[in-house]
Amino acid sequence: MAAKFGSKIGMIAATVGSAVGLGNIWRFPAETQANGGAAFLLVYIGCVLLLGIPVMLVEFSIGREGGTDAIGNYRRISPKSKWWLLGGMGIAASYMILTFYIVVAGWTLEYFVSALSGDLFTGIADGSASFEGKMKDYVSSDWKPIIFTILMIAANVAVLLMGVRKGIEKISNIMMPLLFLILVIFCVVALSLPGASDGLNFFLNPDFSKVNGSVVIDAMGQAFFSLSLGMGVLSTYAAYFPRDTRLGRTAATVSFLDMVVAFMMGLIIFPAVTSFGMQGESLEGATLVFVTLPEVFTRMPGTQLWAILFFMLLLLAALTSTISMSEVAIRFFQDRLKMSRRKAVLIVMLPLLLFGAINSLSSGLLADFKIFGLTIFDLLDTVATNIMLPLGALAMCLYAGWFAPKSLLARQLSNDARSQGVATRAVIFIIRWVSPIAIAAILIAQFN
Ligand code: PHE
Repeated sequence: MAAKFGSKIGMIAATVGSAVGLGNIWRFPAETQANGGAAFLLVYIGCVLLLGIPVMLVEFSIGREGGTDAIGNYRRISPKSKWWLLGGMGIAASYMILTFYIVVAGWTLEYFVSALSGDLFTGIADGSASFEGKMKDYVSSDWKPIIFTILMIAANVAVLLMGVRKGIEKISNIMMPLLFLILVIFCVVALSLPGASDGLNFFLNPDFSKVNGSVVIDAMGQAFFSLSLGMGVLSTYAAYFPRDTRLGRTAATVSFLDMVVAFMMGLIIFPAVTSFGMQGESLEGATLVFVTLPEVFTRMPGTQLWAILFFMLLLLAALTSTISMSEVAIRFFQDRLKMSRRKAVLIVMLPLLLFGAINSLSSGLLADFKIFGLTIFDLLDTVATNIMLPLGALAMCLYAGWFAPKSLLARQLSNDARSQGVATRAVIFIIRWVSPIAIAAILIAQFN
């Protein structure tokens, strides 16, 4: 029998902790930048509402009904079927994402440490160093990023060994409010910068001529990635939800908070960029947070303090997300293969040392090793985010809507009420028809 979260707040904090991560703070501004600004934001919000929330409800229902690991849930709900394979794909996808996510998490730790020591800013003022040069150095040196990746793995192991309540729930309870507080401070500062309005214009004033197929698939991938959907992460957490948790309300709260964080990051980054006249410089999405923002900090009083605060924020967000990705596989080893928590944690986390190192080198030593024109790192990101997550989400909707026992969604969504309200019936309709058709259409359009 799996553990349960100890309190409602803790349950929300842990689930939001999984959702809010590098996806919101690093990936969202990068995708918005690459896809033309406000129009992407709108499509993204549409994807969260129409696809994200229903898929989240499916994962919650499967997880709480099954009450165990990503594979075991299907075995319990539909024994003698092959649906457990879907759980297996989820475990594979979440682990794949973990292998590169942990590397970016390592970079954030590296940035945090160098902000603390002041190294991040040495040589900038007199022009003998640049942030671009520093990022190259931090990211592509052979050993440094590997060391920091290892440190991040160790931090994960420490929290995971403490278990669901004392580890995951406790750390989320402290970190999530702190993260929101730091974000609000940054928002106030960024919005009061002179010239902020041009950035706001880019972020909030949509130019619909920019919407095309690739914007939509990127927005859908971003929505699933950001909400931790399509791979059994949230069904693993939902197994720890108490029986009386209202799933609809929880999904709405988590999605809303996740969108708010992404939105606030947009409000921070784009005004800062225009305010300091940097929009003309080659703004590449992936470097917005690591190159552009430090540049912004140097133009503000209290440079080092802002940098420390910001990279701490990024670090907290990354940690609570990597924990959730790891938990999927750990729960599997614990429940299915009857291992002790400690053994399961080690079996899942130790191989990361190797995979993390390979991914880390793909930004340095192995940067020229390309498959389909992408580095190993980009390939994993694209395949997992734009293909595996939507496929996983699609299959889950089909399963819950058409193949699972009919009572699954009805009971879970209404908390065992005898008759279902209009809202429950509407959600079930969306899960059976709207979400799968929309996801399939976007997926197919991608290949045309
Ligand atoms: N949702 C997390 C983020 O936005 C990333 C994540 C993806 C977490 C998949 C768990 C599973 O950073």
